[in-house]
Amino acid sequence: MAENTLTITDNRTGSGYTVPIVDGAVRAMDLRQIRTGPEDFGLLAYDPAFMNTASTRSAITFIDGDKGILWYRGYPIEQLAEQSTFLEVAYLLFHGELPGARALEEWTWQITHHTWVHENVKKFMDGFHPDAHPMSMLISSVAALSTFYPDARVNRDPGHRELQIYRLIAKVPTLAAFAYRHSLGRPYVYPDNDLTYAGNLLNMLFKMTELKYKPDPALERAIDVLFILHADHEQNCSTNAMRSVGSSGVDPYSAVAAAAVALYGPLHGGANEAVLRMLRSIGSSAGIPEFIRQVKAGDAKLMGFGHRVYKNYDPRARIIKRIADEVFAATRPNPLLGIALELERIALQDDYFVTRKLYPNVDFYSGLIYEAIGFPVEMFPVLFAIPRTAGWLAQWQEMLGDPEQKIARPRQIYTGAARREFVPFGRRP
Ligand code: ACO
Repeated sequence: MAENTLTITDNRTGSGYTVPIVDGAVRAMDLRQIRTGPEDFGLLAYDPAFMNTASTRSAITFIDGDKGILWYRGYPIEQLAEQSTFLEVAYLLFHGELPGARALEEWTWQITHHTWVHENVKKFMDGFHPDAHPMSMLISSVAALSTFYPDARVNRDPGHRELQIYRLIAKVPTLAAFAYRHSLGRPYVYPDNDLTYAGNLLNMLFKMTELKYKPDPALERAIDVLFILHADHEQNCSTNAMRSVGSSGVDPYSAVAAAAVALYGPLHGGANEAVLRMLRSIGSSAGIPEFIRQVKAGDAKLMGFGHRVYKNYDPRARIIKRIADEVFAATRPNPLLGIALELERIALQDDYFVTRKLYPNVDFYSGLIYEAIGFPVEMFPVLFAIPRTAGWLAQWQEMLGDPEQKIARPRQIYTGAARREFVPFGRRP
């Protein structure tokens, strides 16, 4: 018998089937041949929330959740965080290899020179209420970019696609910073092409009366490393949204906006905002035991803990914990750090969390750093969306080049009423 096959016996019919196993997976479509008769549609795989279904082959990011491993294109995240820059990592995600000097120069030039947005963007930004959530402003304005580049809807040329990629990676920080400045009632700051990607973001966010903004190198590097850590994470909720929405052939501005919407949810990119709210509501280390009791009773969730894939320490959380010390040396220590450290210590010894393999994820400490740098919590998902734009687009590009991919369209198991006759209004009970 061939080794890489699965033999299935359908006990309803007694029929046997052999399906290939490739890369540790069977194809759900191979199940379709398993039928009880000609009227039978064929066996479906039922997998709500994609708990055990691979939706794609991908060569971009590798995660081993049990071992706590994360690689981009084969490079361990720890080495990238230590030795690389966000723009270099973004290039790596798209091209599969680290750039040489010329390629990096060209890539950096392109992204630096697409940071400006049409002046009309300021007009619709101004239409938002001052207390509008900056993530909603970012989502709406990214979607609105498609109105400025209508050819992105129809042009499928790879060179043209690359132009949209430059534009999106370049303009999302500008839109993010405009959203932030709008919420403070401050004038928008235009991009400064002399600065790095992270340095320019700090400039657009925090520049006041100085003629030339000079970013604090410690904060600039911290932001850059956080961006590396958040750049991609294989088939997570928002990336799945990007691929699914993008599979319809829509332009990348609309697809990135859809992905950002998914990221906005409190179980995904909204978690670091939720962590800070949680730490504040705990108040002090004395409040931790009562909070843990509530979590175990099912009345609360320990935000920033647990992950669909990591059943070990999230490697990004380890790196972030290290950056936190460097940032707090440049700013002031965040008083919530003590509560977070104690909460982590207690949770990691508690049977409830140990048996469920719940460890800190990337969001447990990132919010503390962002807050120390001076960001309000509403900006946290925005700061996540900026680097993840590179990952979304790399995944989108891979999807478009994958001959196996079509418009994403899951099946369902219908559980509603059987056919019945319409009841006219006057005769309904
Ligand atoms: N606090 C308390 N209990 C938890 C937590 C948590 N943070 N996370 C999971 N559990 C429990 C569940 O209640 C469940 O317990 P049960 O078996 O007694 O029912 C068990 O652990 C398994 O959890 P699931 O919900 O099945 O895990 P799932 O993979 O569906 O969820 C998720 C993963 C959404 C990340 C979840 O752990 C969670 O809600 N965490 C808090 C939010 C968070 O930090 N999100 C950020 C994720 S990282 C990112 O998106 C960037």
